Amino acid sequence: MTDTRMEKLNKAAATLSAKLPKVPEIALVLGSGLSQAFGIPGEGMTIPWREIPGFPLPTVAGHAGEFWAGEVNGKQLLLQRGRTHYYEGYSIDDVVFATRLFALLGIKTLIVTNASGAVNRDFSAGDLVLITDHINMLGTNPLRGSNLDDLGPRFPDMSAAYSPRLRALAQEEAASAGITLKEGVYLATLGPSYESPAEIKAFRALGADLVGMSTVPEVIAARHAGIEVLGISCATNLAAGVDPKATLSHAEVIETTKRVGGTMRQLIMAIITRV
Ligand code: HPA
Repeated sequence: MTDTRMEKLNKAAATLSAKLPKVPEIALVLGSGLSQAFGIPGEGMTIPWREIPGFPLPTVAGHAGEFWAGEVNGKQLLLQRGRTHYYEGYSIDDVVFATRLFALLGIKTLIVTNASGAVNRDFSAGDLVLITDHINMLGTNPLRGSNLDDLGPRFPDMSAAYSPRLRALAQEEAASAGITLKEGVYLATLGPSYESPAEIKAFRALGADLVGMSTVPEVIAARHAGIEVLGISCATNLAAGVDPKATLSHAEVIETTKRVGGTMRQLIMAIITRV
């Protein structure tokens, strides 16, 4: 019997692929602040999520909620502008709905970006960080429930979730562009409250360099479906307690993405050429 989740995904994928002029090769996910900073990379078409049946719609006013499709540096790119977070109240299946559409469209490469708090004391606000691995502290997993056999196996390997090949390529491109790209482990929390200083201390002891509220479900779903993943984070602020005098605000997060968005765009454009 076909899983109802699979029926819904197949219907959405059929609608989306009928709208696309060409089959995309690379998907690029930009978080809300980064969507604004990145802008639209060239000539192409916009597909609002509301035109895709079953697509979970954003709850936060001002979040883009659309795909953009077009050719960038000779590659067919599908840009996801905005994302759904688990803290918004979606089911975990909805959080990875777009990722699974990528798999059904035949996309082989996923570049995920996010904003994060710097847990590592050697990081500064505004650093670009290549994600080398993750720690899932969301308390759930997008693969929970019966396995979607059409997409991938029951127990997928996460040993090299963030592609060593793409990481090496990203570092090469960063070096030739004179961009410093640090490296670190991203820990996902539920949010939406920022962490307490005690939590950040605990996360550091666990091996986290960055903390955020997204990305990990998408990466798990992508790896389940055999998609190669590259993750780049913008450390927008020092995590709670790193600077004992500081407080955290969403305004600071948006401010830093605006400041660093152009550099991130430059780096991603260079990477896309080589993927
Ligand atoms: N914590 C969690 N998520 C975040 C942070 C943070 O400090 N900064 C940006 N996203």
